[in-house]
Amino acid sequence: MTPGFIRWGLVGFLLGLAFMFTQCGKPFATKGDLIYSVDGVGVVSPIAGGTAESSLSAFQQTVYPLTRSHCVSCHGGSQTPLHASSDPAVAHNAVLQKVNFTDPSNSRMVRKLRDESHHCWTSCSQSAQIMQDAIAEWTSRMTTVNTDPPGGTNDYNLVTGQSQTVAQERQLVTAGAFLMTSSAGTAMYSTPFVYNSTISPGFIEAPNDGSNQTFSSTDPAAGQATFAMSSMANRTGGALWGLVQAAANNDDSFFIKMNNGNLIQWNIPDTNGKFQWVRVPNNYNVNAGNNVVTVREREDGTKIAMLLWTQDQNFVPTGAGTAGEIKLTFPLSTLLGGVSGVSLEVKLNDYDSYSYKLTSLRLNNTSGRMIYVKNIRLMLNGHYSPQNANYTYVDQTVPNGGANLNPGSMIVLKEKGEAVDKLSFAFEILEVR
Ligand code: HEC
Repeated sequence: MTPGFIRWGLVGFLLGLAFMFTQCGKPFATKGDLIYSVDGVGVVSPIAGGTAESSLSAFQQTVYPLTRSHCVSCHGGSQTPLHASSDPAVAHNAVLQKVNFTDPSNSRMVRKLRDESHHCWTSCSQSAQIMQDAIAEWTSRMTTVNTDPPGGTNDYNLVTGQSQTVAQERQLVTAGAFLMTSSAGTAMYSTPFVYNSTISPGFIEAPNDGSNQTFSSTDPAAGQATFAMSSMANRTGGALWGLVQAAANNDDSFFIKMNNGNLIQWNIPDTNGKFQWVRVPNNYNVNAGNNVVTVREREDGTKIAMLLWTQDQNFVPTGAGTAGEIKLTFPLSTLLGGVSGVSLEVKLNDYDSYSYKLTSLRLNNTSGRMIYVKNIRLMLNGHYSPQNANYTYVDQTVPNGGANLNPGSMIVLKEKGEAVDKLSFAFEILEVR
């Protein structure tokens, strides 16, 4: 080794050390450019394009559940940073200094797991990935788009933060009612399976050519379809359901397996010419990340439109949609100048392959004040479409305790699908009276 090499090597090492000290060596390092002061709920300070309020609410549905489950024994009270504090605002503010919104993979919260194997709950690479995804989702959840031009009385420029994607909102439902679905329209399949979208819901089947041949579980001539399901955590002992159509005798079975599990023969009762949810025998575990359900042809003419996995053994899916009602809540304190305890709430159901059904629009109010609300627009992916006009006409003063705003329901066409669509609401007038 030449002396020059050693000298430059030493300089590089010292520079690296200096970098570590300024970037990550200090648990209470000064805040980065993207992070502004946040003194708790209701303080309107921009954080990664959102407000303190939207950031707190997004945090509570993304990173917070992870720290509360996996880090609470130390970071719940005795060990700083208090990112698992029982007070979400304290946890939120503590973790702000440990996340990098522009590059989530570079967050201390991620690197601590990935690079320092610090109390991971699964493999450290997997835990780090889950944390990274949660931070990325936190950021995307805060991004609010308002396409209405400012000015004028019909200016709906009071806009809530966006929900997460419909698929993610569904996953946020508590462990007991956790649902994952996957529809035939997004499955990969091989012949003789075909995808038929001429009716709703679209389905996969081996066309019923009358030969009614059965196939072994490994026959390469049999049709095969793979349905992807992505879970945010390892979950065990769940029920797998299929939205299927089967006719007695020769058109009523598939082979099916989860990930690398055993392929089993799935005999389906006669569904009388309709699509029905039928449970697959056995219980199934899913992994954090991607899972694949493989459906193989056994008897041609048996149709499958959708799969659903839930940990809740008592849950029985209904309807032709993905089943399972989601309640979306949009905090309004920021729009009300810091008055806390007010939120807009709406229930969302999957209506069919093409649309959502919204019901039970409600203003929750525990602020102790009267809240006046006039005219509301649903926005899908940040923009308003006049076809979604049902909720437009509202003119109500809501007392403490809250009130239903509209008893009706609204069918909303999906725009880009459950995996992408996000909802928000815009108000013409929203004020404290
Ligand atoms: C058994 C106790 C314990 C648990 C559980 C624990 N930590 Fe820590 N953590 C510590 C201690 C002690 C420190 C301070 C020393 C250090 O930095 O390692 C710390 C510091 C940290 C820091 C700040 C220091 C830095 O390097 O930026 C972060 C971030 C962190 N932990 C993340 C986590 C996450 C995320 C979890 C949950 C997955 C977790 N910790 C679970 C004990 C724990």
